Amino acid sequence: MIIITNRPQKISGEVTVPGDKSITHRALIIGSLAHGVTEIEGFLDADDCRSTITCLCALGVKITEKPGSLLVEGRDMCLEKPAASLDAGNSGTTARLLLGVLAGQPFETLITGDNSLRKRPMNRVIEPLSLMGASFQGTDGRLPLTISGGMLRGISYSSPRASAQVKSAVLLAALFAGGETEFIEPYLSRNHTELMLEKFGVRIRKKDNKVLLRRGESLKGCQIQVPGDISTAAFFMVAAAITPGAEVFLKNVGINPTRSGIVDVLLNMGAGLELQNKRFWGREPVADILIRGGSALKGTTINTELVPRLIDEIPVIAVAASVAEGLTQINNAGELRVKESDRLAAIEKELTRLGADISSEEDTLLIRGGAGLRGAEVHSYGDHRMAMALAIAGLVAEGDTVVNGAEAVSISYPEFMQDLRRLITE
Ligand code: S3P
Repeated sequence: MIIITNRPQKISGEVTVPGDKSITHRALIIGSLAHGVTEIEGFLDADDCRSTITCLCALGVKITEKPGSLLVEGRDMCLEKPAASLDAGNSGTTARLLLGVLAGQPFETLITGDNSLRKRPMNRVIEPLSLMGASFQGTDGRLPLTISGGMLRGISYSSPRASAQVKSAVLLAALFAGGETEFIEPYLSRNHTELMLEKFGVRIRKKDNKVLLRRGESLKGCQIQVPGDISTAAFFMVAAAITPGAEVFLKNVGINPTRSGIVDVLLNMGAGLELQNKRFWGREPVADILIRGGSALKGTTINTELVPRLIDEIPVIAVAASVAEGLTQINNAGELRVKESDRLAAIEKELTRLGADISSEEDTLLIRGGAGLRGAEVHSYGDHRMAMALAIAGLVAEGDTVVNGAEAVSISYPEFMQDLRRLITE
């Protein structure tokens, strides 16, 4: 599919963005391990979460769809050996979190993924899970991998990076491990796993960047209402912020502080943004977000500790920075090289095609904004967030922009183009 976007006259209207991807994966996985039924309302119905559902069904979990919700029949910690290999598709969260769960299951499982996922590093989860007692066979720390799980022991693990996928894999394995497991990370990554385990009745101790979990009572199935995904809302936040006269209202967006770096950055750049109607859905904070375009944006600096709070939003932040006045510097963004594509290289190459003044030095991205974008043919590299960020850049580019590989949006937001078109024409 190809998207051509012209500079629109106006961007206005209301969008309820789809459910949070990270929270949907966790609700499915933890619900599968629980005792009793879990109902997940507002789940994300997109390819990545479908990959998790397919893998869990292959592990013997019964998942049924009702209008607007999913029912997961928990298997009280005991999954079934799958008849064939598991396919995590494009989803790093599916692969890494399931490796944590499979570490605690007394059978062997082969897990694989698509071309992009097979290039992504798995050593970051293999290392702590091996220390806990799981064993792995495979090629060079990448998928396909065979994991043999069983008797696990608790560990104290200091992660070299702030990664919620690694933290979650270790915490899920800790549910099966003897003794206590301690996970320490250099900066706080998203904490949805901790919050959801607590919601299912697991006692967790947290202090600064440290989480402790002791195997205990069983998880109790429950009702989960999934907030809208702030990583998805980010595309419309930036679209509105960079378009004079725009007014966009985003409903029920998750604003968990471990995820809301985009709000801080846009405010810091001078965007007209308000959080309204703040409340909690379960343990997750939620708000409606109003963004008005027209304020002149200025460049900003994003430092190491902020990066995990907006890691998935960097492609679209780079678009805002290209339009803003002055220099934006994003430090320590090396993790972007091992996402669904090498996002550092992709951002630099594709925004340059659109006329942005952008360069990278090792793991730092430098964007000198204000030059004005012009339409061009650009490529998503099969990466959903690149496709959407480039479509947003196309909105403010002079002339037509063609985004090749735009069908990748189905990974996290199949209705992206319909919702964007509605905002443009409403
Ligand atoms: C995710 C964690 C982040 C993020 C990914 C989703 C999660 O990855 O980029 O899109 O749901 O735990 P890392 O843990 O590799 O930083």
